[in-house]
Amino acid sequence: MRLDHLIHSIWHELARASQDRQHAWRTPVLATVGLDQHPNARTVVLRQAREPSGELVFFTDGRSPKVAELQIRPQASLVFWSPQLRWQLRVSARLQALTSGTEVDAAWARVGWSASAGDYLTAQAPGHPLADGGVPPDSPGDRTAHHLAVVVARIESMDWLALGLDGKHQRARIEGPAVQLLTP
Ligand SMILES: Cc1cc2nc3c(=O)[nH]c(=O)nc-3n(C[C@H](O)[C@H](O)[C@H](O)COP(=O)(O)O)c2cc1C
Repeated sequence: MRLDHLIHSIWHELARASQDRQHAWRTPVLATVGLDQHPNARTVVLRQAREPSGELVFFTDGRSPKVAELQIRPQASLVFWSPQLRWQLRVSARLQALTSGTEVDAAWARVGWSASAGDYLTAQAPGHPLADGGVPPDSPGDRTAHHLAVVVARIESMDWLALGLDGKHQRARIEGPAVQLLTP
């Protein structure tokens, strides 16, 4: 990997992952700090990679605990691993959750009629205890009353690690346009 191409190659893979369900970087782990001050990590789907603004985009339910967490502590870490590339990418970012406005409307136009639309139409918030029998209440029929939130992660720095098949690994820290090679 030529270092002058590294940032472009990473963004190329992030963009591919946001389009390709088979790409391993499609489902990174997003870690935030919980309201109890403990780390809280979960898998999310990468929906968009915006290289010009250095942003990654995810969708979630605006009522989910992670939205309350990031409103208090917006600092987050994202971890991507691809066995095909043998690349791990750790991203340090500041999160913002948008619950209304043009970005949310555009996102809902995209997912509102897809199979995952129901995720954002549930009567109860995610994590709500179920009554005996464990059957969640039916989703409301009104498709405009959704809870889709767009989470924008503004990247502050990235840590890239490439595992070589020959045991020779490469690691770099990326901050803005600066790439610093590190010992693995
Ligand atoms: C493959 C996979 C993809 C997921 N994608 C998302 C996602 O894009 N957005 C989301 O909010 N939750 C997603 N989830 C569910 C989260 O991992 C998590 O269980 C849920 O959001 C509740 O997290 P919270 O209690 O920290 O808010 C996904 C789970 C899996 C297994």
